[in-house]
Amino acid sequence: MPDLKKTIAYLYMEETKFDRDTLYERVRPNILPAEPFKRYKDAEKVLLARRWDGKSADLWKVLQERRSRRNYTRAAISLGDLSILLWASQGVTAQAGPYYLRTAPSAGALYSIETYLVAERVEGVKPGLYHYDVKGFQLETLKKGEFLNDISRIALGQGFLRDAACVFIWTSVLRRTMSKYGNRGLRYIFLDAGHICQNLMLASEALDLGACPVAAFFDMELNEFLGIDGIEETAIYLAAVGRIE
Ligand SMILES: Cc1cc2nc3c(=O)[nH]c(=O)nc-3n(C[C@H](O)[C@H](O)[C@H](O)COP(=O)(O)O)c2cc1C
Repeated sequence: MPDLKKTIAYLYMEETKFDRDTLYERVRPNILPAEPFKRYKDAEKVLLARRWDGKSADLWKVLQERRSRRNYTRAAISLGDLSILLWASQGVTAQAGPYYLRTAPSAGALYSIETYLVAERVEGVKPGLYHYDVKGFQLETLKKGEFLNDISRIALGQGFLRDAACVFIWTSVLRRTMSKYGNRGLRYIFLDAGHICQNLMLASEALDLGACPVAAFFDMELNEFLGIDGIEETAIYLAAVGRIE
């Protein structure tokens, strides 16, 4: 496969493979760590619902029925359901020393993934861009307005995003993971994001909502939209959520 071997992806995989003979000789890049949480302290807050009594689901059925769904009705979802989705994807479930353990696993418990939300059809939440404050279990308002058209355009024109109730956007603060794991840490960052998205997919299915992962987007446009630099923090994954028939 000569073509594959010429790609930077192949070189990256080769360069970051653990090898018994060289594991302890490898020079790891010296990358300073970053703060474990991002907060927009002065932002207007939207409190999330901490209780969801009576909502339960059969895990085996949810696994059997989960699909990527793109046919949203444009009806609103409730703030209670949004709260469950945020908790299911990145809720704090335990504390171990300085680590706030979550619903999804993370390499080294370093949690480099930040969650942003474009809400357009969520009861009790004004249309806008929000950041999810994991520790405080609340949303921080970054800008108000209807942005799903912009998100659709940024995601290579994928039209179903316009009909969603909200879109989750996941970024990575790369230093959090790469300061410990060096170049190999990048692999872990994408694995972390996959776990988070699958939790969202399963929770959406359990709530009879439709969800679809999206990895095709113009990177710098999305970073600009979020107000992040694409170096220290960069967008890596999205998922649409909406009501379905
Ligand atoms: C990493 C990743 C990226 C994806 N990106 C997109 C995307 O940009 N647009 C889209 O419509 N679906 C996207 N999907 C959804 C896949 O098309 C879908 O998972 C696949 O067709 C299998 O169908 P299922 O999820 O219903 O089992 C993505 C899925 C993954 C895991």
